[in-house]
Amino acid sequence: MSKIDIVLGTFFGDEGKGKIIDYLATKSDVTVRCSGGNNAGHTIKANGKKYAFHLAPSGILSEGTLAVIGNGVVIDPRVLIEELEVLKNDGYSIENLKISDKANVIMPYHIEMDKMLEAAREPGKKIGTTARGIGPCYCDKYERSAIRMEDLIGDTFEEKVRTNVANKNKIFGAYGWQPVDADKIIAEYKPLGEYLKDYVCDTINLLHDCLANDKSMLCEGAQATLLDIDFGSYPFVTSSSPTVGGVCTGTGLSAHDIGEVYGVLKAYSSRVGEGPYITEQDNEIGDTIRELGHEYGATTKRPRRCGWLDAVALNYAVKVNGITGLAINHVDTIGKLPKFKICVAYDYNGEITTNYSTNAKFQEQCKPIYEEFEGDFDISGATTFDELPEKAKVYLNRIEELTGVPIKFIGVGASREELIVR
Ligand code: GDP
Ligand code: IMO
Ligand code: MG
Repeated sequence: MSKIDIVLGTFFGDEGKGKIIDYLATKSDVTVRCSGGNNAGHTIKANGKKYAFHLAPSGILSEGTLAVIGNGVVIDPRVLIEELEVLKNDGYSIENLKISDKANVIMPYHIEMDKMLEAAREPGKKIGTTARGIGPCYCDKYERSAIRMEDLIGDTFEEKVRTNVANKNKIFGAYGWQPVDADKIIAEYKPLGEYLKDYVCDTINLLHDCLANDKSMLCEGAQATLLDIDFGSYPFVTSSSPTVGGVCTGTGLSAHDIGEVYGVLKAYSSRVGEGPYITEQDNEIGDTIRELGHEYGATTKRPRRCGWLDAVALNYAVKVNGITGLAINHVDTIGKLPKFKICVAYDYNGEITTNYSTNAKFQEQCKPIYEEFEGDFDISGATTFDELPEKAKVYLNRIEELTGVPIKFIGVGASREELIVR
């Protein structure tokens, strides 16, 4: 019986998960997405073309690999179909796509609600959501009024839309927001269900059957540990569980089924959206990192806030997720700086600590303690660890020492091939 390996984000997202998934997917029989929705943007540069996947599992680019969207994902069918059409036009087969009948559907009123609630938040309290309807869709899931894929393709759709629209319009009315039209939504969404219905199935049993048949399986994490609804910097988080537990609840696989857990990070850090960020460099250094690393959102095109790598936060991600191997991207980018830093501890009102906390007061008051490293190295074209310059090795060895976790993947450029595998 095989196990499912997992790739997940260790910071605030955009660590380069897509690239690592793309590499591992070529060796996997099955890839699965388990949480989040099209708030994710996973960039892959393959066969000379750049893709930014929001919903389609990145494994869809690997011929013969089953690409599964698990029950924990929230799906905007318009976005998914748009992605599938691009893939079809580029000659990729989408026949290996499977969508959970229990995945929740993002409806137009979720998107409106997302925009409305964000507009209503006072300055300083805004979350900076992607405005894709993610939070309101998960709210309906837990409130038990969600429309699932099985509804979208079945005969319960119309009635559920009418009930939900009537309820949502009361809320929109109270906020002075434009109401939505049930007839229009039904007319637009029915054909989307028709398009997707052949791909919808019971993915829970399908995934268990795959494990029982010794198929190699990979889970494509979206978002990241510090955006987790429980373990992130609440309320500046997303509305799902991008940490390891979300793999079980978002696929129906059990804790016993988990194999390797790969934590992805960048050689520096970034955050898009609001919220605390201890190692942020809101200055010329951050601007330089943004330009060198092309740090602009794959989903919303927003400039990403940039800063130094935070080993304290990284160790928190290691603990929370049980990370067994690290994948570090943008080592090429950090090498372009003359010097760079890693935060190794915090000074919290005179007390030195290496324990991360998402407590708001802690986040506001603690000061990062840095170690400095020598940069100015060029690692483009390197294919093995041994080929790397000494300065890059010193830095990577220190990360392993600080975390006690082996580095399994080293990103030396954005393309599929620019990856050292150890
Ligand atoms: P994800 O959401 O975690 O999949 O990451 P994104 O795709 O949103 O952002 C990562 C960005 O870094 C993308 O533009 C990638 O093409 C790029 N990238 C990934 N790994 C590397 C690397 O090792 N070096 C460089 N220069 N770029 C990389
Ligand atoms: P990937 O998978 C970076 C952030 C948003 C916002 C907060 C809440 O590409 O790493 P939401 O729309 O989810 O309610 O927004 O979460 N966010 C991400 N930031 N990468 C992501 O995904 C993100 N998904 C959500 O910017 O701060
Ligand atoms: Mg991204």
